[in-house]
Amino acid sequence: MFMKTLLKGGTVVSGSGLNQADVLMDEGKIQAVEPGIQAEGAKVIDVTGKLLFPGFIDAHTHFDLHVAGTVTADNFETGTKAALSGGTTMIIDFATQYQGETLEKALENWHKKADGNASCDYGFHLAISDWNPSISKELEEIVENGVTSFKLYMTYDEMYLNDKKIYQVLKRLKEVGGIAGVHCENMGIIQALVEEEKAKGNLSISAHKKTRPAPVEAEAIGRLLKIAGLAEAPVIIVHLSSGEGYQEVKYARERGQEIYVETCPQYLLLDESVYELPGFESSKYVISPTIKKEKDSIRLWNALLKNHIQTLATDHCSFTTAQKAAGKEDFTKIPNGMPGVESRPVLLYSFGVLEHNLKLEQMCRLLSENPAKLYGVYPQKGAIAPGSDGDLVVWNPNVQWTMSVENQVANVDYCPFEGTDVKGKAELVFLKGRLAAKDGQVVLEKSGSYVPRKRRMELY
Ligand code: URP
Ligand code: ZN
Ligand code: ZN
Ligand code: ZN
Repeated sequence: MFMKTLLKGGTVVSGSGLNQADVLMDEGKIQAVEPGIQAEGAKVIDVTGKLLFPGFIDAHTHFDLHVAGTVTADNFETGTKAALSGGTTMIIDFATQYQGETLEKALENWHKKADGNASCDYGFHLAISDWNPSISKELEEIVENGVTSFKLYMTYDEMYLNDKKIYQVLKRLKEVGGIAGVHCENMGIIQALVEEEKAKGNLSISAHKKTRPAPVEAEAIGRLLKIAGLAEAPVIIVHLSSGEGYQEVKYARERGQEIYVETCPQYLLLDESVYELPGFESSKYVISPTIKKEKDSIRLWNALLKNHIQTLATDHCSFTTAQKAAGKEDFTKIPNGMPGVESRPVLLYSFGVLEHNLKLEQMCRLLSENPAKLYGVYPQKGAIAPGSDGDLVVWNPNVQWTMSVENQVANVDYCPFEGTDVKGKAELVFLKGRLAAKDGQVVLEKSGSYVPRKRRMELY
């Protein structure tokens, strides 16, 4: 089943530098990384002029999520194919604990969705919605068994945890060596603002951004970080969308707190004008947190360039335009979320590396090395080194193409970046040593496996 593959003449990218080296893969692993490798019986591929990245990791996807009276357009079968087509060889999805469930039950549910269906490797975070003493007890074993990261929500009726519970979870996670990523938005204020818009008869999409402005996120981040400080626990801010929210992170870091930040391409590349598009176009961008103002994306770019943001994920949570139409008469009924799992690498390369002078090493850290370390799969993943999994992207830096629903792999009938010209492509994608995608098409299906994770390690 395994084929010895030798990639000759490429540039190996890591978080700390570029290296001219050949890469030999066999038996699912990287066997050697050095110049001038000769290997008998290997299939030799000339990758001169190409960049070799460790397979990209998207630590924020929602596949097969039943929410808002519907289910995401992408399940593990379609979502992981989309991931692989763009160079992402591992995703970490959110297994959700519903009220009354144990964490083990939630994991079991997500294994049923994913096992046997995934084309890239995968792990799970656990989203905790029902916090009580028996869940607190259960946590230790969950962490030992390979789920070392969790998600907490400060908004959404079904998922909301109050400040007391957030404090308790963070404190317990600190004890067992887990870490939480937190969705920071102030639920009470969102509810009040929605009521105000409804009272004015404003049920159109333009009201979406009015009900979730930057201070709604910033207040929640500020509060969370005070709570995390009291619990003396590290924490991850997921899908950071605002400059004002980032300011709260800066304050807490000045206080000496250990904080990790994730953002997503949509918050770097789009601005709130998407909520004024004609017709029902703007429903495609109804996500939470909302897409903020241009000044917010400028702050996020600056933070990213200075390495103050650690990971770039997608929050891929796709719904078709027909599903979005459930909210035609009332914006609060539009299922929130957008696709992105396949386009993150090319967007970061095109707009980060080529336009903002982001270094290739930084691209590698944001997409691969940092999520691998933070989520406990390094150096199995996130590195091109002997012994690491043969997850590798042969990146062609010169291909120019136009993003469109026509060439999109995800199971959704729109592309949020339709018509955008980009440069660079995941030309060959290897998963555990086997060619899994070529020129944006998946050639090896359902070979993804579950990856139990360890506790986080230091990023740099
Ligand atoms: O609108 C979004 N992002 N939906 C996904 C759930 C979340 O909060 O991450
Ligand atoms: Zn389902
Ligand atoms: Zn969230
Ligand atoms: Zn999310």
